[in-house]
Amino acid sequence: MTLVNPAYLGREQTLVKHTVLRQYLTALALIVGRTFARDIVFVDCCSGPWETVTDDLSDSSVGIAIQQLRLARDMLNGEGRSVTFRCLFAEEKPSTFAQLKKFCDAVTDIEVEALPGDFTQHIPAIQRFVARRNKSFPFFFIDPTGWTPLQINPLTPLLRTDPGEVLINFMTSHIRRFLSAEGKDFDALLGQQPLDEIQKLSGQERDDAALFTYAGHVRQRGNFPYVCTTVVLNPERNESHFHLIYATRHHKGVEVFKQAERKAREVMTMARAEIKERKRIDCTQQRELFTVEEHGAAPDRQLVALCDRYQGRAKELVQEHLVRNRLRRVPYETVWQIACLFPLVWETDLRRWIREWKGNVTIVGMEPKQRVPKCDAGNVLIWNDQSQ
Ligand SMILES: C[S@@+](CC[C@H](N)C(=O)[O-])C[C@H]1O[C@@H](n2cnc3c(N)ncnc32)[C@H](O)[C@@H]1O
Repeated sequence: MTLVNPAYLGREQTLVKHTVLRQYLTALALIVGRTFARDIVFVDCCSGPWETVTDDLSDSSVGIAIQQLRLARDMLNGEGRSVTFRCLFAEEKPSTFAQLKKFCDAVTDIEVEALPGDFTQHIPAIQRFVARRNKSFPFFFIDPTGWTPLQINPLTPLLRTDPGEVLINFMTSHIRRFLSAEGKDFDALLGQQPLDEIQKLSGQERDDAALFTYAGHVRQRGNFPYVCTTVVLNPERNESHFHLIYATRHHKGVEVFKQAERKAREVMTMARAEIKERKRIDCTQQRELFTVEEHGAAPDRQLVALCDRYQGRAKELVQEHLVRNRLRRVPYETVWQIACLFPLVWETDLRRWIREWKGNVTIVGMEPKQRVPKCDAGNVLIWNDQSQ
């Protein structure tokens, strides 16, 4: 028996990615549908279906998008809100596109279009699709098999779409493998100067530098105040398989994305523990005394180590920023924008650090009954200590 959805056995990394997408999509649609959007558009730039084993494609981003958007639509309809939902699914491989088209043709209750070809060659068509209705909110999901479609210049018009959000699969393991290879145009992904610096690094330092450099380009090109990254580990090895990069213009987006990341972390811990257990049983031919299914998974050491690493880096950067601006008013939003970039860093961590710096930091603008600083409340931090 397994707690992991059997459709994902052998590709548990996809389960983690789909957990983020599943959790996030409905929450996003509800937030924007309850506020300003009258039309919600999901654009899957690299749709597949890819390695699916289900007839209804419920183990693909395409199937998940339809399911989750239906949920949101029904809830919004139930509240008397009239919001339309549309999807654009792009796929470049002809045989896969044929499968995709068949799926799209069978969807009658949501406006769905399939777009054949390399999506980076169809950016104006994607923009026209989004602009067909007023008060639209597009969510772009960019999940290629390699790194070439992530070159920042062709993507820039999509990143600039405002309002709009983006979720990108940054294929860390793939990029790691080819980073030092001759003839690969990684400068188009990372920029020539950062690339020279990144190539001097190794291991986790190199992975992180490539990821955060690219996330910085996404932030800058799309003018996104908030960019978050999530680590998806190789199911069997203690290394990152890929990272998801999420960019939004609103702190509420970060809140729900971080909730999705928490859920994904649980799923990843469970899936990796089950694989380990299966391997042990295969080796020893003995059933475990305490199975993951019965007793839950122990904390995943690799994830715990990464959590310590990223929390340490985020805390350092926030403190550096406050100290550099000592005696000046730093909006709370600014420090959350610094910290939320890192995987496995939650807003409760940021608030804990601020409490730890109590002697040095004054919080201005809190309401009398407000217990913790928050975004959109005019809260400001001031680092007072002049000795540092
Ligand atoms: C990793 S799979 C996608 C998986 C799917 N998003 C999911 O989560 O179920 C990548 C798919 O994108 C397609 N693809 C890769 N590069 C593309 C591009 N530039 N434009 C359109 N499709 C692309 C591949 O043929 C493949 O089917």
